[in-house]
Parts: sequence; C-alpha cells; structure tokens
Amino acid sequence: MFDQFNRRINYLRISVTDRCNLRCTYCMPEEGIIQMPHSQILSFEEIVAITKVAVKNGFEKVRITGGEPLVRKGIVELVGMLTAIEGITDFGMTTNGTLLKQFAQPLYDAGLKRINVSLDTLNPERYKTITRVGKLSDVLEGLAEAKRVGFNPIKLNCVVEKDSNEPDARAVKVFAQANGFIARFIPKMNLDEGIFGVVEGGEGGNCSTCNRLRLTANGILKPCLFSDRGYNVRELGIEKAIEMAINNKPACGMANRTGEFYNIGG
Ligand code: 5AD
Ligand code: SF4
Repeated sequence: MFDQFNRRINYLRISVTDRCNLRCTYCMPEEGIIQMPHSQILSFEEIVAITKVAVKNGFEKVRITGGEPLVRKGIVELVGMLTAIEGITDFGMTTNGTLLKQFAQPLYDAGLKRINVSLDTLNPERYKTITRVGKLSDVLEGLAEAKRVGFNPIKLNCVVEKDSNEPDARAVKVFAQANGFIARFIPKMNLDEGIFGVVEGGEGGNCSTCNRLRLTANGILKPCLFSDRGYNVRELGIEKAIEMAINNKPACGMANRTGEFYNIGG
C-alpha cells in the first residue's frame, strides 16, 4: 500500500513485549517502566492475524522487536508461527543479545535467519554503565553462538553520541570486521524533543524513504516513531487500523510524548 506521500509501506516492526532485562540509560529510566498490563498484550494469535492482513496488503518485511523480544514467553513458538506465513521475504529480529546463547539455535530452527544485536561498547565496565545491569560477556557469547548456528547477516546496532569515530564505536567496527558482522551506528535520539538522526549503515532515520509501520505490544499501530498518532487494532479492527496508520503517516515526524523506545521498539 502507498501512503499520501507515495511511499510504499511494506515493513512491519512488531514489538512483542515492553519488558526488558536491561535498563539502557538512553532507553529506560533506572527504576524501570510502568509495564503494560498482561491483558493488554497481544496474544500470539492476534499478532499472527495482524501480520497476515499486513502481508495481504503488500507488506513483505517483518521485524520482531521489544523491549527485549527474548523475554517474551514462547517467543520461539511465535517466530515459528510468523515464519510460516507465506509472502514474507525478509524476517528479522532486534535483540540485546544477552539471552542469545540459549536462544540462537531454537530461533534458527524456527526459521529466523537474520538478527540485529545491540552492542554499544566492547568495554565491560562501559557496557555495565550503559545498560545499568548487563554483562558484556553474555552478549559476546550470544553473538558467537549465533554465528556458529549460521545466522546471516548478523548486524550490530551501536548507539553513538555523534558518529562512528567515537572510541567505543571504533572498537565495535573493528570487532564487527574481525567477525564478519555488519555494524550500524545509530545517533542517540530523544523522542520527546524530536531529536533523531540518520542511521549510518542502515536505512532508519530517513523520512522520505520510510516504509515502516510499528505495532506496539498492546496492539497500537504507529505510523511514525516521532509522532503520537496510533491506531488500536482491537478497537478498529485489523484492516481499518492498517489503512488508517498508512493514510495518517506523516511526511516527517516531530515529537512524540506518548512513546519510548522500549514500547515502540526503536
Ligand atoms: N537513541 C537511539 N537508539 C536507541 N535505541 C534505544 N533507545 C535509543 C535512543 N534513545 C536502539 C537500541 C537498539 C534498538 C532497538 O534501538 O540500541 O539497538
Ligand atoms: Fe532494553 Fe534495548 Fe532499551 Fe536497552 S535499548 S533497555 S536492551 S529495550
């Protein structure tokens, strides 16, 4: 489907949970978040139904995000249900990688072949500072397991203050090259202030070619990361919510006061 600005909208990002086992400083307040009540969280059946309608309407790319998708109970089963849908040509997941050691093989077997892993630094103390609670070695072990299992591509999402010349980012670049991973550098954004940047080595952040809709874990279809607009799938019905989200996709986002990365999935 095309939007008002002639952009072909074919990419659905599905946040499967607002929960996360980390507390990255740029994403979450230290004390954590007010979590969505379980009753509001979409069931697997609802997520599959929404995805099927999206695919019927021309969506081809699907990405699972969070929060941290691997903390959602039954995630492997959900991945299997989604990869079974015909018509998806590109299916990926964005994860913080801390649970990948355990999940890489079952996810791969369920049909997931490409992943993006958040990695902002290779310094264990800095990793702890940034994520407040994370252990760098968990991610490194998870990445090694994902590589062993055969994931391809494995991309690294590295949040930077400004650009990839910063010391942490340079280390991530070297690490990526040495391991056959693809590093992408994401300037730190502030949703409240509408501060966002173009992803180095990725396609995010460029409004004129933006092809995405985002589905939150509680069933709101959001046309833009930087807009408060959202369409409730349960209230409107799937077809109508998709149609409205596409027709109301802004040319370019401004500020967003109702969403954060952990609930709209970056
Ligand atoms: N600015 C830029 N990127 C962010 N992410 C989370 N919060 C921000 C922010 N404020 C990124 C994470 C992860 C992806 C899901 O979103 O690093 O890679
Ligand atoms: Fe969790 Fe990702 Fe947010 Fe970090 S950026 S707290 S890993 S959702």
